[in-house]
Amino acid sequence: MCGIMGYTGGGAAAKIVYDGLKRLEYRGYDSAGISVLCGNEIKTVKRLGRVSALGGLLGKMHGGTGIGHTRWATHGKPSDENAHPHNAGVFSIVHNGIIENYSQLKAEYFSDENFLSDTDSEVIAKLLDKFYDGDLTSALARVCGLLRGSYAIAVMCAKSDGFAVAKRGSSVVIGYGENENFAASDLPALAGLCKNVAVLNDGDIALLTANGVAIFDENLQGVIREIVPNPATPADLELNGNPHYMLKEIREVPAAIERTRLSYAYVESSVKKAMEGVDRVIITGCGTAYNSGLAAKRYIESFARIPAEAEIAGEFRYKNPVITPNTAVIAVSQSGETADTVEAAELALSLGAKVIAVTNSPYSRLTRCADVVVPVEAGCEICVAATKSYSGQVTALYMIARTLAGSSVQSSAEIIAPFPALCAQITESEDIDGLADMCARSYGTYFLGRDIDYAVAQEGSLKLKEISYVPSEGYPAGELKHGTLALIDIRTVSVFIITGKSLAGKCANAVEQVLSRKGKAAVITNVAEVAERFKGRAYVVEIPSCDEWLSPLVSSVVLQLLAYKTALLLDRDPDKPRNLAKSVTVE
Ligand code: M6R
Repeated sequence: MCGIMGYTGGGAAAKIVYDGLKRLEYRGYDSAGISVLCGNEIKTVKRLGRVSALGGLLGKMHGGTGIGHTRWATHGKPSDENAHPHNAGVFSIVHNGIIENYSQLKAEYFSDENFLSDTDSEVIAKLLDKFYDGDLTSALARVCGLLRGSYAIAVMCAKSDGFAVAKRGSSVVIGYGENENFAASDLPALAGLCKNVAVLNDGDIALLTANGVAIFDENLQGVIREIVPNPATPADLELNGNPHYMLKEIREVPAAIERTRLSYAYVESSVKKAMEGVDRVIITGCGTAYNSGLAAKRYIESFARIPAEAEIAGEFRYKNPVITPNTAVIAVSQSGETADTVEAAELALSLGAKVIAVTNSPYSRLTRCADVVVPVEAGCEICVAATKSYSGQVTALYMIARTLAGSSVQSSAEIIAPFPALCAQITESEDIDGLADMCARSYGTYFLGRDIDYAVAQEGSLKLKEISYVPSEGYPAGELKHGTLALIDIRTVSVFIITGKSLAGKCANAVEQVLSRKGKAAVITNVAEVAERFKGRAYVVEIPSCDEWLSPLVSSVVLQLLAYKTALLLDRDPDKPRNLAKSVTVE
């Protein structure tokens, strides 16, 4: 959701910031821009489109301090004018977040002035220029005091060395180098650039020069933030011969499951303690993370017989939820930065719930507010579509549910042990090209299943629509006849996931209902009788038999590959789908 990057030191700032922005591009790719301090003049380039649009424009930007931005448009269409940085007087700024009171600030302080953009961000540069009396940090603190909403801001001043950053809501990581320092929205930008990093707290302001970093709280009192080894490595960013990050990351599903299952042993006792006496569980998240929560609901209710609900975080946070001291909230988020999910977790905490974070990002906002953090060990995920992180989330949530049911961590880990190999089998062998072709030509694709297969159906549908733009819906197979069946005709494809024997017959009825309305159907199944029954009448994908509850780990890989292949057939960029960004740090 916009990426910012700043550098100060002896290197070529323009190139370093440009490279950093390319690594942050998954956060938004509507426009990009860079400012560099050249002597005591600020030079700025910005363009509509991807970061690479800046490549040929950096030749004259010589200087050791620079800031840059890659944008996911919120206020103001994607355009050159609305691209960041925004400049005013001696200032240049980049901003990630939303300034909710920008119109009031404009009206109050600049009623007679023209703004060059339609953004909520330009007012920050104007305010800095207005309040500046020779001290960058105090001007920035004063401006931050006026802002409502969320922000990570990097500011360069033509009259000061280095640059400053400020944050509230949106994240900022400081990178400590030797005679050079960095700031970025996320760790991948800093991979290979510095050995140590620190995460800023809300309200922090940091002043970075080549020689050091000074951090202040909102009252400009000096504060110390923990400095930890930089966990991001350049290897995280390699494609390793894959044409896209999405395929690379699907191929990393087995490793994500394996690492997550093994690491759970280190947090099991904390989960147990936090869950003592819990009589109700709410799992919350957005998008794919919510979909993994649908599986978790089934696990918790079936294994532990504790009532559980999966709630979309953006709904949960505004519905005045019923929370008792015995309610546990499990907040699931790959990035740990999704505004709705973090706010939902903070609300639950304030109402007295125990909050367990399930996240792939150890230094995220979510980890800093939760009572217990259960790591998803998927590794850096760059493709906007979540793949291996879903598998890691399902693994972690399965283990949490089993802990709640009193099972030992060893027994859970043993049940999961065969799954990395089963998933690897799918990624290397499954032939779904024909099905991808059907989906690419379809008027609409429906994903249907019952019980745990319904949870996967939702995720399969999200993946397909997100990266191929084929209209799609996930639905409980039993509900088909209550409405959705009206949409079925020869132009539609219905993809059924049938992994449980007990409901296989019922689900097969729904396949028949589709076929008898001339709809095209596909069946992804590990039930031999089902495969036999539909061969020749539907597109059948046979997957290995496995523990019924954990079948989402296997079937989701087929659906991820299906979405990927469909996107390629339609000439879409699977890594950077239109209109989207990976970390949604705004509302
Ligand atoms: O980082 P998070 O897991 O909190 O992100 C939540 C959703 O934005 C995310 O899962 C989104 O739906 C993905 N693009 C789905 O592939």
